[in-house]
Amino acid sequence: MSEEKTNHKGGYSETAAIRTQHERTDFREHSVPLYLTSSFVFDDAEQARALFADEVPGNIYTRFSNPNNTEFIEKLCLLEGTEDGIATASGMAAMYISMASLLKSGDHILASRSVFGSTHQILNIIFPKVNISYTYADITDPKSWESKIQSNTKMIFVETPSNPALDIIDLEWLGKLATKHKLILNVDNCFATPYLQNPAKWGAHLVTHSATKFIDGQGRVIGGAVLGTKELIKEVRFFARHTGPAMSPFNAWVLSKSLETLAVRMERHCQNALHLASYLENHAEVLKVKYPFLNSHPQHELAKKQMRHGGGVVTFEIKGGIDRGRKFLNSLKMISHSANLGDTRTIATHPASTTHSKLTNDEREAVGILPGLIRISVGLEDLKDVIVDLDQAIKNSQ
Ligand SMILES: Cc1ncc(COP(=O)(O)O)c(C=O)c1O
Repeated sequence: MSEEKTNHKGGYSETAAIRTQHERTDFREHSVPLYLTSSFVFDDAEQARALFADEVPGNIYTRFSNPNNTEFIEKLCLLEGTEDGIATASGMAAMYISMASLLKSGDHILASRSVFGSTHQILNIIFPKVNISYTYADITDPKSWESKIQSNTKMIFVETPSNPALDIIDLEWLGKLATKHKLILNVDNCFATPYLQNPAKWGAHLVTHSATKFIDGQGRVIGGAVLGTKELIKEVRFFARHTGPAMSPFNAWVLSKSLETLAVRMERHCQNALHLASYLENHAEVLKVKYPFLNSHPQHELAKKQMRHGGGVVTFEIKGGIDRGRKFLNSLKMISHSANLGDTRTIATHPASTTHSKLTNDEREAVGILPGLIRISVGLEDLKDVIVDLDQAIKNSQ
């Protein structure tokens, strides 16, 4: 990295997010250039041999590494307090390789029941094909977790806050449980981002991200990251190099720039989300609101212990169930009806019929995805305008 590299030692730092940059070229550019190249040239045959033999560091081919990807990852590692990492083409590529690269046939994963729909499909449909099994444990019942650890358990996988139930898991307790049983603790930190929470601080060995969400923050590109200890990332990197889920350098360039503004964006997302959650909690047509920094959230104290703020997502259940929920979504005028989250634009989603539609009714109910649940990813617009739109949609759905 460049001479502008800070002396930062881990944990969130605005300066590290802004000033970590790939070495400046002879063109003396201020902002990092885009290294849109598939391969890199060798000075001579000896350098080519030494690079392939891992005797010297350097770029060979963009499936293995690229300056934009390296910059993005070095920055994320500084912000998360992790030793190493790799950038992936999507969040799901990150989730998949963080497990597939480290597990083998016969291994078992203990996972929180509240995981993203596609992660559920990996555990439920894809891994059983190669004899990797899983058991779910409930976030709200931590006492039951230890008894679910088997002699072949290798990894604990969790998401906190979870999508879309916004359940919180105690990372300090989980870090201790993983240490006691010598398990790899893998935390999907997508909802919190490194600005709100650093799982490695509590003992996570792997921190996984969908960078598509708040890290991009503007709904433009898909990307992911696996971060963690040098030892584990060495294996993840080998797997990625030979199976090819690499992030495009263009996306890495966009995402590294996005990290420069993560702190200010997250401050505003969280401020807007808290105000919106409080507003909805007092709305006569709303049955239930969930947001980690509302006093009414069942794990409010825990959320305050491990998160800086409550995040940018609020869920609520409108009176009148699924039919009213659908009418509400069809009545929105400004708020986008879309399946993404973590955008500057406020987005409403109906998880039961979209992101979590592949789960059975029972599976959805077990993780609190009720038929009428609406997920709001609160954007950066003037909150007054968001409330006006929500209000009119609630009225017009009656
Ligand atoms: C918690 C969580 N993990 C992983 C993913 C998957 O990320 P991507 O869509 O970038 O593959 C998502 C997507 O919504 C998510 O919410």
